Formats: sequence, structure tokens, C-alpha cells
Amino acid sequence: MRILAVESSCDETSVAYLHDRKVVASKTYSQEIHSKYGGVVPEIASRAHIRKIDRLCASVFDESGLADASQLDLIAVTDGPGLAGALLVGISFSLGIHRAHGVPITGVNHLEGHIASVTIEHPEIPFPFVALVVSGGHTALYLVSDFGRYQCLGSTVDDAAGEAFDKVGKMLGFAYPAGRDIEQCARQYTDTETIRFPIARTAGPGLNFSFSGLKTAVKYHIADREDTYASDNKDLICCSFQNAVIESLIRNTRTALEKTGVGIVAVVGGVACNATLRDRMKQAFGTDVYTPSPEFCTDNAAMIGIVAHERSRRGLLRPPRMNPALQMEEALCS
Ligand code: KG4
Ligand code: ZN
Repeated sequence: MRILAVESSCDETSVAYLHDRKVVASKTYSQEIHSKYGGVVPEIASRAHIRKIDRLCASVFDESGLADASQLDLIAVTDGPGLAGALLVGISFSLGIHRAHGVPITGVNHLEGHIASVTIEHPEIPFPFVALVVSGGHTALYLVSDFGRYQCLGSTVDDAAGEAFDKVGKMLGFAYPAGRDIEQCARQYTDTETIRFPIARTAGPGLNFSFSGLKTAVKYHIADREDTYASDNKDLICCSFQNAVIESLIRNTRTALEKTGVGIVAVVGGVACNATLRDRMKQAFGTDVYTPSPEFCTDNAAMIGIVAHERSRRGLLRPPRMNPALQMEEALCS
């Protein structure tokens, strides 16, 4: 099956061509313009998608040796969750190809894409597994019984883990997105005891996360000290902050494994690029921790194409719907 996949839910414009499970070409453009605003500006993101998507698609066609879109069997496009205007660009672009060339089209849930991203390089990962989705927009744990069969075990009640990285990074003077810079600073330090930032416990039986208290704790920790404290102690603050995030992620993942009796973990989403998180997960849960390469952790179209391929095999394709708030529970609806 020849699949063109399109992802434009936030600030990455991405197009990929897949032949069955093989990612033949994958191009992603990260919109750096948002760094000067300290976060993603939705209207700017939409316009940047419009400017890039056509050329990205053309270069994917070139690299794949595709003559034109009529050679495709399916177009897969992210239809939520995400920024409304940003999603609209990818959906409209895909519908254009669908209408002009009569290629069937399907909508794909972005979070399902992140979960499936682990199978791009690890098709052998056995079901069921627990997926920890950690990105700039989402932090959640899912029990994954198969493609299309997900049970949410818990999610963040406020900020996502990546969002906390980005907001703390802003306090420390890093450009958006700050996850990688924080990780690099944190690597200069090994002391996680000098500052112990709080790790929130949320009420109720679920496995929810909370990162806004941690963000506020970092804010007051800096505000209560002299002006040069933050810049003089960046490495220490980054190390302690990152450690608090990782401990929270490991704690809830451990509970998820105990509750479900499952022994396999996938860590996916942009924050899964973090090598310290990956190492600590492996230390905690042994060799049964699967992670995608960084290019498939951050937003990318290849993961959307994989979902489409697997859903097609199971008769689970559905038309795209413009739904910025699309939740995983709705991912199965046709
Ligand atoms: O999955 P993604 O590309 O977009 C969303 O779906 O949100 O994730 C982007 C997030 C950003 O918050 C960014 O700071 C974070 O992933 N990130 C990292 C690292 N690389 C990217 N966070 C921690 N450590 C990293 N190395
Ligand atoms: Zn994402």
C-alpha cells in the first residue's frame, strides 16, 4: 500500500511517503520563528504551514520517485488534537489531493500517531504494552492492546511535561522549545539532592500527572534569591527540575505496569528525545523499554502513515474530521 502522510497539528510541517510499513521518504520542517515569541503563535504557525507544505510534498515525491499523486493508494492526515488553523492547512491540502486525484483519504489521531511511532523501528514490540506519551501538548499513559485499541490510564491535569520544560526554560532564558537546552545543562550536573523540587501526587485512583506546581516551585525558587542566582546556577536548577519530571514519569509508569500486569513500555513524543529519561526508564524497567529515534519522537508524518497502514489492515479507516480537541477515545469512531 502506497501512503502519503501529512502532519501539521502544531509547529512542525511534515510529509512522508510510506510503502506499507517502510518509510521511503520523510521531510519535516520545524518552524523556528516561534522561538522569538517564547511559544507557538497559532496564526503564525498556520501561515508557515501554508508556505511550506507544498514544497515539502514535492520533495517527498522527488525522493520517492513518485510521478504524481494518482499513484497513491491512500492519504493520511492528522485531524486532531492540535491547533485549529494548523490542522486546517494539512486537512485542506490533503483533501485537495483526494479530490483532484480520487485518492482515498483518512483522518488520524495525533496521539495515536505518537504511540505508533515506536513501531516504525520496532515492529517487533509485543502487544499489550504501556505507552507513555510525553510531548509539548500531552502527557498520558495508555494501555495499548493493538492498533486502534487504547485505554487511557492517566493524563496530566494541567501542564504537559514538555510544556513544563519550555516554561522553565523561558524562566532561565532559553529559547523555545527549551527541552534540549535544559537536558544539555542538566548533563553538566549530577547532584539532584541540593534542590528537591516537589513531585505532585494527584487525587483519585487514576494515574494522573501534574507539572504546574513544579513549574511554580522553580519560579519561586529563583524569585526568592539574588538576581544572578538563576544564571549562576542554571546547571543545578536544570538538573533538579529534570530529575523531578523524570521521577514523576517513572513513578506513574511503574504503577501503570503494576496495575495492568504488563511488562513492556514504549516512551514516545518529543520529550522522549531526552537521553536521561530514556536511560532512567531503562534502568527502572530493564530492556523492555522501547523508544523511537529522535526524528520519530517529535511531530512527524511517518507516524501518521504507520497508523493509516495498520488501521487499513484492520478495516478501521475513517474519514478526516476537523476536530482540534479530538481525544484518543474518539480515535476508533468511524
Ligand atoms: O512531540 P512534540 O514534537 O510536539 C507535541 O506534540 O507537543 O514535542 C515537543 C516538546 C517540546 O515541549 C520540547 O521542549 C520537548 O518536546 N523536547 C524535549 C527534548 N526535546 C524536545 N524535552 C526534554 N528533553 C529533550 N531533549
Ligand atoms: Zn505531538
